[in-house]
Amino acid sequence: MRVLILGKNGMLGHDLLKVFSKEDVIAMGSADLDITDQERVFEEFMTIQPDVVINATGYTDVDLAEKEEEQANEVNGYAVGILAKACREIGATLVHFSTDYVFNGEKATGYREEDLTSAINMYGRSKELGEKLMVEEMEVQDDMYEPEGKYFLIRTSWLFGNHGKNFVDTMLKMSKEHKELKVVNDQRGKPTYTLDLARQVKFLLDTREYPSGIYHITNEEETTWFDFAQAIFELYKSKVRVLPCSSKEYVRPAKRPLFSTLMNTKLPPLRPWKEALAEYLSEK
Ligand SMILES: NC(=O)c1ccc[n+]([C@@H]2O[C@H](COP(=O)([O-])OP(=O)(O)OC[C@H]3O[C@@H](n4cnc5c(N)ncnc54)[C@H](OP(=O)(O)O)[C@@H]3O)[C@@H](O)[C@H]2O)c1
Repeated sequence: MRVLILGKNGMLGHDLLKVFSKEDVIAMGSADLDITDQERVFEEFMTIQPDVVINATGYTDVDLAEKEEEQANEVNGYAVGILAKACREIGATLVHFSTDYVFNGEKATGYREEDLTSAINMYGRSKELGEKLMVEEMEVQDDMYEPEGKYFLIRTSWLFGNHGKNFVDTMLKMSKEHKELKVVNDQRGKPTYTLDLARQVKFLLDTREYPSGIYHITNEEETTWFDFAQAIFELYKSKVRVLPCSSKEYVRPAKRPLFSTLMNTKLPPLRPWKEALAEYLSEK
């Protein structure tokens, strides 16, 4: 299986590269291939002829996206349509990552894979656009291309991993600079370790049992940012004091959904996030 990983320098990209290292892998960063450049994408795909393309790229700055709508839409939206078109052209499977932020967070029971999206910030809307363009392209029926097993649209949430900006590392850094921290306690979600996510992507591709469609992959059990922070400091044996606060007290440029828990109704569950966090921190 020839695998092309896009976004090799990103947090998830690094762990995908690690997990797929025994495969025939080609990995690219933005300097190798700008995914918004349709002509170059088609050229590279034609030359490389991958069986699978894993798109771990993204415009991922949720707050900056409020000001940079066009850039966010280009990378998270239109470029995903380009990748889907190019994959169809060469008959490759496309794996792409979306987010819990495509939901408005008003459904306290959690979101199923087939639930309707309605993002409340620009980043979420740009990811929603990518989802729509990918599915539209991949669901087109024609004689040349059998869409079954040809695309996996994976929604995930609250990522942490060794090679990127993430909440766990931010908390650890702040705990060294402050004696007391305030963390929001009214947003619920599922933290996810990028290494566990990457392993599950490999499982999904290796088993060949799962049809094309939308999948939710996160570590199990939901929490709030406040409880997540407390667990980080407990495991790291940090003495910093953590105080709960509300989203209204901690205003940021982009609105966050309150309940963005992704429910997984299709795949075997991953381990609980606390176990994954303990492993992540044990290597620090
Ligand atoms: N982080 C989270 O909490 C979270 C949650 C849910 C879903 N996701 C999704 O998961 C995926 C991976 O997230 P991440 O946190 O690992 O991302 P990340 O660390 O921010 O990395 C994103 C990568 O995208 C690449 N990129 C940006 N624009 C590009 C372009 N025009 N052409 C080619 N590459 C481009 C960058 O490559 P270079 O470094 O080479 O410039 C960067 O390394 C994204 O789709 C994100 O939306 C993330």
